[in-house]
Amino acid sequence: MSINYSEKIPNNVNLSDDRTLQRALEQWQPNFLSWWGDMGPEGSHGFDVYLRTAVSVDPQGWAQFGHVKMPDYRWGIFLNPGDADRKIHFGEHLGEKAWQDVPGEYRANLRRIIVTQGDTEPASVEQQRHLGLTAPSMYDLRNLFQINVEEGRHLWAMVYLLHKYFGRDGREEAESLLERRSGQEDNPRILEAFNEKTPDWLSFFMFTYFTDRDGKFQLCALAESAFDPLARTTKFMLTEEAHHMFVGESGVSRVIARTCQVMNELKTDDPKKLRAAGVIDLPTIQRYLNFHFSVTVDLFGADESSNAATFYTTGLKGRYEEGKRVDDHILKGQTYKVLNAVNGQLVEKEVPMLNALNEVLRDDYIKDSVSGVERWNKVIDKAGIPFRLSTPHKAFHRNIGALSGAKVSPDGRVVSESEWQAKKNDWLPTAEDRAFVASLMGRVVEPGNFANWIAPPVMGINRQPLDFEYVRFN
Ligand SMILES: [Fe+2]
Ligand SMILES: [Fe+2]
Repeated sequence: MSINYSEKIPNNVNLSDDRTLQRALEQWQPNFLSWWGDMGPEGSHGFDVYLRTAVSVDPQGWAQFGHVKMPDYRWGIFLNPGDADRKIHFGEHLGEKAWQDVPGEYRANLRRIIVTQGDTEPASVEQQRHLGLTAPSMYDLRNLFQINVEEGRHLWAMVYLLHKYFGRDGREEAESLLERRSGQEDNPRILEAFNEKTPDWLSFFMFTYFTDRDGKFQLCALAESAFDPLARTTKFMLTEEAHHMFVGESGVSRVIARTCQVMNELKTDDPKKLRAAGVIDLPTIQRYLNFHFSVTVDLFGADESSNAATFYTTGLKGRYEEGKRVDDHILKGQTYKVLNAVNGQLVEKEVPMLNALNEVLRDDYIKDSVSGVERWNKVIDKAGIPFRLSTPHKAFHRNIGALSGAKVSPDGRVVSESEWQAKKNDWLPTAEDRAFVASLMGRVVEPGNFANWIAPPVMGINRQPLDFEYVRFN
């Protein structure tokens, strides 16, 4: 499964054996590069960046580090090794052989799933394209760029599937993936969270902690797919996703650590004094957390969804860790509780499990998110500060599904419109919060230096020192 780097498109799928496909992808490649030129990290094209590049998909030989100009990054097509005997392990095809090709009757749904996943990848690059101008350190700048090139590669992964398995409409979808733009009114990205701005580095760290984690859960569900090429490509994408979530978790943690340090130095928890000292007060961090968490839980879709049932029953998309669950993997006749707001109360409603699979994935996601927030609280505890961050109730600030009409506080009370209006500035970032955070964003790029509002990381990348030249500006 080693990767052939001698070809124009690095790959481990024997691309040169399929000349038509190779030609089609080689035609798409310059369009991708021109998208990267227009929408990739701003002003970065001449930089040499200390990036990891995949050299093989096995865990030992995954990454090679070296300085690379990003437009020369070897984006390519990497699938995890296949298992010739792999069986479908859920839904109505349970026990049958996994598909190496797309069954005609599932073509439209599979294409839609792949396009929706694929669309998020370039979207996040677009959302993050200005952040390099305000990096808090060279170390952080490098991490941003690493994430950006890998999201670019995730787009390649989905485009490969579209080109290889979906013929002409696949090729058209691959073009459209380069044409939509995050936040653009007439041709936006497909999912709402991917049209939001990522205007500052606190947003970026929250995004990579919460929203890249949505990516993890979607990819895990697709890694169970009966369509084997989708399962194998998403498995490899997951190895890259882990780094994105690390950047988010450690980034927020470092912001908190620096704030706590200044709180102790000044012996104050007054946001005004802390802001004057140039750090982000903990209540503002909580409001950012509330925003990114709630926007991300919406990504899992409506709580009751017949599409979710169809995707599962037909074997297209499994549950998180489907293989580790002990039930019949068919789920007919089983139920699950979803929340509705009725007469000013949140009430649980029992619905068929198959229709609630978006909610099942959302709940798994929430459990996973909470554990990192607890690690952030340890940083605050260790500094001896009596403050706790928490994820808001899942009904808070929802825009999709049964809860979208209700106004719910972070602690899960249905509130009146007037209470919402009175309190929303305590619960979600205000224009003033955002302006303050923006005011801290200056560019710090001397090796080993860090902006005042963030602590240095515990260690460098690939065991390099913190003052290593992670980016050479030339
Ligand atoms: Fe991705
Ligand atoms: Fe990611």
